[in-house]
Amino acid sequence: MTYQVRSAEERRLAIQENASRLGIDDALISELVETFYGRVRTHPRLGSIFNGEIDDWPEHLAKLKDFWASVALNAGRYSGKPVPAHTKLEGVRREDFADWLGLFRLTLEDIAPGAETVDYFMVRAERIAQSLKLAMFGLETLERG
Ligand code: HEM
Repeated sequence: MTYQVRSAEERRLAIQENASRLGIDDALISELVETFYGRVRTHPRLGSIFNGEIDDWPEHLAKLKDFWASVALNAGRYSGKPVPAHTKLEGVRREDFADWLGLFRLTLEDIAPGAETVDYFMVRAERIAQSLKLAMFGLETLERG
């Protein structure tokens, strides 16, 4: 039996080829981030949380485009710390994550080229949401979702 050892560079290329097959590139990520946060800002609950925290929207959107390029394309452009950015927030409830994820899915369904692309982003968003919820609300997240 032979093992194929893939270098970090080969893994990065494989991720990028798969993403490209799903129509994921910087242009799609830019549209996703712009459209999603445009909707977040007018959402009855999420809007006031975000608008109360974020003064510089262009800077936030640029950071989130780098974040999603790193998550979806392995671009390695984001070097922030999502956990402290969320644990410091006051007034966020566990249920708000369901609204966030629902709005993210609706946005993807509007702009992504197909269902597999929607799933590709949703799997990653749900995983990150789960780890943020664990950091913010602790074990009750595992007990009650
Ligand atoms: C109810 C759910 C959520 C709320 C209310 C929320 C709110 C916020 C707010 C207000 C900020 C800005 C913090 C600051 O700049 O001081 C922020 C930053 C951020 N959020 Fe969220 N968020 C939520 C869920 C998520 C999820 C599910 C993800 C990823 C899938 C995410 C990814 C990020 C990232 C990457 C940043 C930038 C962190 C940094 O400064 O490097 N957020 N969020």
